[in-house]
Amino acid sequence: MELRPYRATDRDDVYDVCVRTADGGGDARGQYTTDDFMPDLFAGPYLFLEPELAFVLDDGDRVVGYVLGTADTARWAAEHRARWLPRVAARYPLPDRGAGSPDPHPGRPATPQEGLTELLHHPERNVYAELAGYPAHLHIDVLPAHQGAGHGRALIRTFLAALRERGVPAVHLGMVTTNTPARAFYDRLGFHEIALEVPGLTFLGAPTDLAV
Ligand SMILES: CC(C)(COP(=O)(O)OP(=O)(O)OC[C@H]1O[C@@H](n2cnc3c(N)ncnc32)[C@H](O)[C@@H]1OP(=O)(O)O)[C@@H](O)C(=O)NCCC(=O)NCCS
Repeated sequence: MELRPYRATDRDDVYDVCVRTADGGGDARGQYTTDDFMPDLFAGPYLFLEPELAFVLDDGDRVVGYVLGTADTARWAAEHRARWLPRVAARYPLPDRGAGSPDPHPGRPATPQEGLTELLHHPERNVYAELAGYPAHLHIDVLPAHQGAGHGRALIRTFLAALRERGVPAVHLGMVTTNTPARAFYDRLGFHEIALEVPGLTFLGAPTDLAV
């Protein structure tokens, strides 16, 4: 198993790993209009905007895990709006829930995909004052067959080192609160919870000099 920097040819494998782990850690294939939907939100923008901060786990045949993210969440949101959103917006149009809509709950997403589509169109919603001290953020996923073998720890170690090289002091991540195995992983590595109330999500953080 090799842990190495991301290459453009890894893109389809990264998308595959993403969708297979996108349901709170479980397989999300078939849950959205296309299996590219979750990767287009949670992998694509990082690979496109900051490929130098993406690292993959290669078993010799394919990519089976990755860590990716941004060094600066506020800058990422601005770049996402300017450069990523135009590439995908037409594929995932904002739901029309205006006046006269048959929607029984106007203003509220009718499906998980609608809520996530709104997040896609408003990348600034990922920027919280409470997280200002943790400018970087990350996403990490390893296919089930390769979990529990120390690869997640190695990926985080590599990502933190890359952030330190760039002078970034701390990183955060937002996780689905019900994903208790992931929470156990971050706790074990020494991440701490950040006081920020967002329904369904838990925010964790760590200094980039954390000994992982
Ligand atoms: C969460 C995830 C990235 C962890 O990667 P991993 O390779 O399985 O974790 P590691 O084997 O490197 O584990 C590192 C440490 O965390 C501990 N750990 C990992 N998962 C754990 C669990 N479910 N329960 C308790 N401890 C756990 C390990 O025991 C290990 O401790 P040790 O080194 O002291 O023995 C991986 O399991 C995964 O991709 N899960 C599905 C997708 C997901 O949930 N991603 C995170 C979304 S926020």
